[in-house]
Amino acid sequence: MEEISVDFDGIYAHNFPPPLRLPNMFIKRSLPARLHPCFLLVLASTISEIAFMARGDVGTASHYTPPYQPTECYGGDPSQFPSSNLFAAAGDGVWDNGAACGRQYLVRCISASKSGTCIPERTIQIKIVDYALSSSSAAVASKQSVTGATLVLSQTAFGAIANSSVDSINVEFQQV
Ligand SMILES: *[C@@H]1O[C@H](CO)[C@@H](O)[C@H](O)[C@H]1NC(C)=O
Repeated sequence: MEEISVDFDGIYAHNFPPPLRLPNMFIKRSLPARLHPCFLLVLASTISEIAFMARGDVGTASHYTPPYQPTECYGGDPSQFPSSNLFAAAGDGVWDNGAACGRQYLVRCISASKSGTCIPERTIQIKIVDYALSSSSAAVASKQSVTGATLVLSQTAFGAIANSSVDSINVEFQQV
């Protein structure tokens, strides 16, 4: 009895060359396989944009003056400050009993009392390094442009998203 190629679920007898239709199947399969990553990328970026708009909280941001140490989070340790100088002291809504230390937020200016002072197309990423309601840290109330803000930004951070001549802006922010 001669050996025959058996085609069950794509499994072929070992001593036969692969049949011709195998490459065809492979090509047919590889086309959608190559499209998938593109679709996924577009989908992922669209979803993350929608998510940013939907999940971002709205609050206010003020700014404070240097020196920025000591902090409620890190004492006098300067290594905890981001080299970008984009950082903030957390107001009560963000502080989370100290758990906010080190958290990163995307922040965007959405409006200001004086028109033209916002740079709404710019989003910055800031790190929480201090507590805005601390009585002993560098972010004491007397150094804030206004008190009671959700986020008290460093001069660099505030100036990146608004004209620093204003005391307070409305922001959209989201933890990353
Ligand atoms: C910021 O605001 C001040 C005061 O209104 C103005 O003189 C200055 O030109 C503004 N700076 C920028 C970059 O818009």
